[in-house]
Amino acid sequence: MKKTINDLTDIKGKRVFVRVDFNVPLDEDRKVTDDTRIKAVLPTIEYLKQSGAKIILASHLGRPKGQIKDELRLDPVAKRLSEILRTNIKKLNDCIGDEVIQAIEEMNDGDIILLENVRFYKEETDNDPNFSKKLAGLAQVYINDAFGSAHRAHASTEGVTHYLSPCVAGFLMEKELHNLGKILAHPESPFVAIIGGSKVSSKIGILENLIEKVDTLVIGGGMIFTFLKAQGYNIGKSLLEEDKIELAKTLMEKAKEKNVGIILAKDVIVAPECKAGTTHKLVSSKNIPDDMMGLDIGPDTREEIRQIVIKAKTILWNGPLGVFEIDSFEGGTRSVAQNLAEVTRNNGAATILGGGDTVAALEKFGISKDSYTHVSTGGGASLEFLEGKELPGIACLDNASAAVSN
Ligand code: 3PG
Repeated sequence: MKKTINDLTDIKGKRVFVRVDFNVPLDEDRKVTDDTRIKAVLPTIEYLKQSGAKIILASHLGRPKGQIKDELRLDPVAKRLSEILRTNIKKLNDCIGDEVIQAIEEMNDGDIILLENVRFYKEETDNDPNFSKKLAGLAQVYINDAFGSAHRAHASTEGVTHYLSPCVAGFLMEKELHNLGKILAHPESPFVAIIGGSKVSSKIGILENLIEKVDTLVIGGGMIFTFLKAQGYNIGKSLLEEDKIELAKTLMEKAKEKNVGIILAKDVIVAPECKAGTTHKLVSSKNIPDDMMGLDIGPDTREEIRQIVIKAKTILWNGPLGVFEIDSFEGGTRSVAQNLAEVTRNNGAATILGGGDTVAALEKFGISKDSYTHVSTGGGASLEFLEGKELPGIACLDNASAAVSN
């Protein structure tokens, strides 16, 4: 249980360091193309503004590896945030040093400053104590609202908390922990997890953790073929992780022991190569031709998943079911996205979505994130959380008797 922004008293006039995750996509003209992560921290910013705090926002953008890279400056983010808040956000050209200290000294209550990309200093990702101290010295209160970066033990997400008190979770962090925490701790049954993605290796942790909790596990994406191979089927040229075949067998045995249903594709859409415009056809997953590769789940599998989802009370979805980026292979992912929106609306099912690719798929299909109970702003962070790991950016916050749980 962690303290949250609600546990703070008397913040009027205080300098509050808010770590946010403004690692957002930009186009060639350096315009923000998806402002979800910016809008997601508005409750925290607005609350602090109304409380009369001096708000110092800090974020990373991209992976500049300790170098100043003009294309990774946070100016486009400041511009977008200013537009959304209809107020001028002062953007600084550094995140530590005399000019930053001076600008903070000149702040009035309710003012907002955005520091420059913290990753322009290598000390950020090194979690360097001196750099952490310098960041801490800017403020009197620390709020972490960067759920998307909570799996990183960096200076602005972890190190700083050793030199600043109090350290609490912001409203976005609280919401993420509430929704993702609940699904792991008290999921209403039937609980179905749909885990897609190309590689078993990147989803081992989540599969192992969820097999202990779910009633049904739907496996999708490129991972399917390692599982099908483990069952002895011909998978043609499909993606295979040879060294994960044994693990796939162990997971399937474990599921059987625990009476967890495992859904693998019955039918798949195959093509000679993973390319837009290529010829494709539908085949049984038990016999994929030698010169073909599986790129999406077929209509029978989509229907099977739909029937399971309709009866579920809790559904977790992480990772696409096929190569949704190519129109011919988007059908499986689109159908899951639509089914989950439908059961949220019509059945009151709790639907929790996570992962960068899952969110990218919703964007491609033009489906609003509001169609679901919760869409996490974390990619790697939500995955690690759902693996059951303790995230350093959360573990370091002040403990509370009753607030949010990690
Ligand atoms: C993300 O986009 O997942 C977060 O901002 C973390 O970024 P990182 O993987 O570069 O640490």
